[in-house]
Amino acid sequence: MTELAQNAVSAVRDYWDSHTLGFQYVRDKDLGIGTPEFFAHIRPWMNPYKFPWIMERIDKQAKLLRGKHLLEIGCGMGFDSLEFLKRGVRVTATDLTPSAVRLARRHFEIERVTPEEVRVENVLELSFRDNTFDAVWANGVLHATGDTRRAIQEVRRVLKPGARAIISHFYRKPSWMYLLSRFGKENIEYKEEDPPVNEFYTEREILAMFGGFDVIEAVQEHYRALPVCREGVKAALYTYGFKPFYNLIPSPIARRLAYKLSVTAVKRG
Ligand SMILES: C[S@@+](CC[C@H](N)C(=O)[O-])C[C@H]1O[C@@H](n2cnc3c(N)ncnc32)[C@H](O)[C@@H]1O
Repeated sequence: MTELAQNAVSAVRDYWDSHTLGFQYVRDKDLGIGTPEFFAHIRPWMNPYKFPWIMERIDKQAKLLRGKHLLEIGCGMGFDSLEFLKRGVRVTATDLTPSAVRLARRHFEIERVTPEEVRVENVLELSFRDNTFDAVWANGVLHATGDTRRAIQEVRRVLKPGARAIISHFYRKPSWMYLLSRFGKENIEYKEEDPPVNEFYTEREILAMFGGFDVIEAVQEHYRALPVCREGVKAALYTYGFKPFYNLIPSPIARRLAYKLSVTAVKRG
């Protein structure tokens, strides 16, 4: 990796190490981190609340992958890996940050599921051998690494020929969130700062990064503004100012302004 890329990775690691996805929903500061109560408290704010369409995707993919080996990139607290494990998929769960890996391990123990492994990995230089996995799952990760193209190609390298990358999601432009992010921070649910990297691409740019894959599905998602759990001025402006008006836009037009693009692609042999 170049020095620039290394610096981006360090900044991304520092940020996510102290903001593991889920902490923004903790309202009871006395909750013991990593206790069963902690995960139960966060659970309603994760999927399907965050991304209602994801559970259907997990169900569909897990049926195809039962008994097979899936790598999750950027697992955070392990909520998605947990769903795959419960559905009989063998899972290796990885994240850039030690704090996510610790929390995901704890989460799996509490839920009494057994992954193949949970470990720190950087998607920009994975330590796995070529052609290892039957599938890779990444949710909200690849566009936030500092080098999206390289992340996709590393995913390709570790997939077996004919195996699938299931990537939920990239950030699209033009989109309503791209517009909002130009006026201020993208983050509505964190009180604090945004992650150091969040790259927006046109759909054409995203698909062009899937060299060596056959793209079997590319879906525009998040074309409605969803509720947010956070209180405060920014959340109020979003909830009472932007959201009701934006959501009046007819679906076919709103879909063109969707904020996310999810891609499922199969590695060519
Ligand atoms: C938006 S969070 C999503 C977490 C989880 N997938 C979820 O949906 O709850 C992004 C995650 O990607 C991880 N991440 C960021 N850059 C990464 C990289 N280069 N390699 C692996 N993971 C990375 C972060 O540490 C963080 O846990």
